[in-house]
Amino acid sequence: MTQRGPEPWRLPRGDEVETQVPQGIDTSIAHPARMYDYFLGGKNNFAADRAAAELILQAVPETRYVARINRDFLVRAVRTVTAEYGIRQFLDLGTGIPADGNIHEVAQAVAPETRVAYVDNDPIVLAHARALVSGDPRGRTTFFQADLRDPEKILAAPEVRDVIDFDQPVAVVMAMVLHFVRDAEDPAGIVARLRAGLAPGSMLILTHASFKTEALKRYAEEVYDRASAPVVPRSADEIAPLLAGFDPIEPGLVRAPLWRPDPGTPEPTPQELEEAVVYTAVAVKT
Ligand SMILES: C[S@@+](CC[C@H](N)C(=O)[O-])C[C@H]1O[C@@H](n2cnc3c(N)ncnc32)[C@H](O)[C@@H]1O
Repeated sequence: MTQRGPEPWRLPRGDEVETQVPQGIDTSIAHPARMYDYFLGGKNNFAADRAAAELILQAVPETRYVARINRDFLVRAVRTVTAEYGIRQFLDLGTGIPADGNIHEVAQAVAPETRVAYVDNDPIVLAHARALVSGDPRGRTTFFQADLRDPEKILAAPEVRDVIDFDQPVAVVMAMVLHFVRDAEDPAGIVARLRAGLAPGSMLILTHASFKTEALKRYAEEVYDRASAPVVPRSADEIAPLLAGFDPIEPGLVRAPLWRPDPGTPEPTPQELEEAVVYTAVAVKT
């Protein structure tokens, strides 16, 4: 990803104790995919990732909660579009390191023939892709390394088209990824270019990081600037235009715990809601 701002977050050589580092991966620079893995309690992260993640946690201790409720939303959203909207194909942009409830696992539990194309621009995710390209033999999954800022390349890629039929409805998933696209890179334009390649009935599953206060927003921007990706947390008013050309299903664009909670889930407390700084929506192409 394009670098911006001060020197990247880099540990002195020799500080790494981990072994089995995938080839070609620089573990001395903190990376958002691995920081996110750390927030989720995963093991695919290194000292630099943990150091940068701990800096975020010092100021925003609820980041782990935000990562969790984002994943929980994704499970509900994937189940909903598969079970209620008949979606059988997913294009997941910004997949991340595999975690509980990967899309093919959730969707194929409802409809085993579901096909999923996973896309991420990070080689670390490629290193874990084997876990993503398993799944029910009646369905299919694939992983393609690409940057979502080049949507035409993704829509045209033979590796993606081998699994996804763009003449049929597809659910495009952009979860916790558009906040890595700066305003100058036109995130709404990227969504519009993707939308142009989708059949009627296609859907968008979107989640996007937000912030509690301007000061915390600036702090997060500073820490991620020094990791390998700038982050742009946005307000609900700034996120809503990213859904242009899609009609959100009920309950619209809301904080994650408010999107169709599973029956029996306790209502979030006012404090939890305030800390739930991730907005979520599922929308149908209009
Ligand atoms: C915070 S993780 C989110 C993972 C997963 N979508 C989820 O919500 O649980 C963000 C992922 O997006 C990827 N990413 C960031 N910018 C990207 C870009 N321009 N193109 C493709 N992937 C990108 C990162 O490499 C990382 O794996």
